[in-house]
Amino acid sequence: MTVRFTLNGEPQRCEVPPHWTLLRMLRDAAGHTDAKHGCGEGVCGACAVFLDGIAVNSCSVLAPQVEGATVETVGGLDRDGDLHPLQAELVASGGVQCGFCTPGMVISGIEAVRLGAAGSEAEIRHSLAGNLCRCTGYGKIVAAVGAYRDGEATGVDGDGVRTTDGAPGAAPAPEVGIGP
Ligand code: FES
Ligand code: FES
Repeated sequence: MTVRFTLNGEPQRCEVPPHWTLLRMLRDAAGHTDAKHGCGEGVCGACAVFLDGIAVNSCSVLAPQVEGATVETVGGLDRDGDLHPLQAELVASGGVQCGFCTPGMVISGIEAVRLGAAGSEAEIRHSLAGNLCRCTGYGKIVAAVGAYRDGEATGVDGDGVRTTDGAPGAAPAPEVGIGP
């Protein structure tokens, strides 16, 4: 069957079997592997994307359900080639090790801040509870979301080094997927 939707701001048309998940369609039909396949059953959060502006586990959504919808993956969050502030903060603060959980952490972190569900460390941890990380122990990820919330997220230069000037802070929401 044909599924037409908007992916990271661009029209997308995929031919997929109707039983495929959104995650499989993104990775195997659309070629967007930034949504990761972890558990495949809605537990780990590695596959999180924005679907019409709401964070969902794409392994738990059937491909036909996104007909006419807007999907945004972590790959669509850059700002004219620069990392989204939360991505940059995760890199700069050591919140990324193997990076497998990172796309989902970014999606969930942005949504937590947008929904006002990141007011304290405990709230951030609760908001990220559906995202599993095998590497970092969560502390630096939680701190990065806090910095993003506070507009303190910094940039990184081309060598991955934290920059101190022109910090982007908690940038305004992009046009697609993440409302004000
Ligand atoms: S792969 Fe979707 S929640 Fe784990
Ligand atoms: S950085 Fe490796 S799973 Fe999170």
